[in-house]
Amino acid sequence: MTGTSDLSSVRASYDTVAVDYARLLGTELSGKPLDRAMLSAFAESVRGDALGDGPGGRPVADVGCGPGRVTAHLAGLGVPTFGIDLSPAMVAVARRTYPGLRFEVGAMAALDVADGVLGGVLAWYSTVHTPPAELPVLFAEFARVLAPGGHFLIAFKSGDRRGRLEHAYGHPVALDVYWTPPELIAGLLAGAGLTETGRLVREPVGDEAGPQGFLLARKA
Ligand SMILES: C[S@@+](CC[C@H](N)C(=O)[O-])C[C@H]1O[C@@H](n2cnc3c(N)ncnc32)[C@H](O)[C@@H]1O
Repeated sequence: MTGTSDLSSVRASYDTVAVDYARLLGTELSGKPLDRAMLSAFAESVRGDALGDGPGGRPVADVGCGPGRVTAHLAGLGVPTFGIDLSPAMVAVARRTYPGLRFEVGAMAALDVADGVLGGVLAWYSTVHTPPAELPVLFAEFARVLAPGGHFLIAFKSGDRRGRLEHAYGHPVALDVYWTPPELIAGLLAGAGLTETGRLVREPVGDEAGPQGFLLARKA
């Protein structure tokens, strides 16, 4: 499974679909209890509820936040969350929809965040257009911005193939989509200093084309 990322194509595609993506996926989480369970576990971990040794009230970055629906969900769980996305149109929708939250345009490989300041990083289906060979760069960047003891949660498409999307959310797009084995994700995270704390692979729901993976990790 090879390929190179084409960020300008990703940005243009999400700029095109932003408004309809937000409309079509706005309430998607309400039909996915296992996804919400992983987000709740992540939020509790960041808040330190479980062990009492979490990074407390430090902020969480939702990287590749799209229209901000998951950023807002996390904020609703009591975690101070802000969003970053490559697509200016997505950021505009997010700001309009959730005026009380902060959203910035930015790239995951070069976050405008100081070293070691975040309690958590969330990558909710935002790495699915990144070829696996380029994931180590992103994971190193996520590890850089996390505080010691900080938590990471990734949602991804579980498998081992590359697909191509030419049409999505009612618009033409040009997107590679990577289905990645959980073992590979876990190994690459470990290489970046993020140790797996748990994972979930669930069966597809609705029009999903295959199993979905969720992996929690923690910086030492
Ligand atoms: C499938 S959408 C998921 C959006 C959001 N996390 C959600 O679940 O609604 C993927 C998002 O990741 C963003 N993205 C993809 N590659 C990125 C990168 N390298 N840096 C920042 N954002 C990126 C896209 O612009 C898009 O908004």
